[in-house]
Amino acid sequence: MTRLVGDVLLLNRDRAQSLERAPVDFSRLCGEEAWRMQLAEPTASLQVQIATNLMVEGDAQRLQQVVRNLLENALNYSPRGGAVEVSLKKQNGRARLSVRDFGIGISTEELPKIFDRFYRGVEASRVHREGAGLGLSIVKYVVEGLGGDISVESRPNGATFVVELPMSQRSGKRLRDLLPVP
Ligand SMILES: Nc1ncnc2c1ncn2[C@@H]1O[C@H](COP(=O)(O)OP(=O)(O)OP(=O)(O)O)[C@@H](O)[C@H]1O
Ligand SMILES: [Mg+2]
Repeated sequence: MTRLVGDVLLLNRDRAQSLERAPVDFSRLCGEEAWRMQLAEPTASLQVQIATNLMVEGDAQRLQQVVRNLLENALNYSPRGGAVEVSLKKQNGRARLSVRDFGIGISTEELPKIFDRFYRGVEASRVHREGAGLGLSIVKYVVEGLGGDISVESRPNGATFVVELPMSQRSGKRLRDLLPVP
């Protein structure tokens, strides 16, 4: 309930003001969230391939929610013990996170609706009763608010969600700048 209220409040806030902007170690964040999920669901089979030191410009707390919601969906809409592949790499100057599962997938009729607030798929509600239909609305709100993109691809045997985020321009420190002024 607390989470539901928090999600609704966030979605109704002015996006430009509600998201912080700071360099975030997205590699570390994704790795930590995958670990957290694996520990919470020991029967799940999370496979990760995460490039290190990918810094994005964003809001660490909200990005954590993004990754968590995608992983949760991948697990909730897959058979118990199903594999989930998490990959993070740099592509075309952006950080590209992909979460791929081998679960129920999403029908072509439902695909355009899944990012709508409170929308829940028919089969999804059957296999996983709890849920408010807000997880992906939050994902879209945060990712697009940070200048990124979210896309989805559904196959007969599962779904893949891809998040692309602008890299932080402030990530690396020039050593020269750290030297005491001569
Ligand atoms: N990985 C996935 N595989 C199959 N269907 C999915 C997947 N992710 C999302 N969906 C579909 O999109 C709908 C909306 O997802 P969303 O995360 O917004 O809500 P939810 O998971 O139903 O509930 P909540 O996230 O609020 O607990 C789901 O109900 C389901 O129909
Ligand atoms: Mg969800």
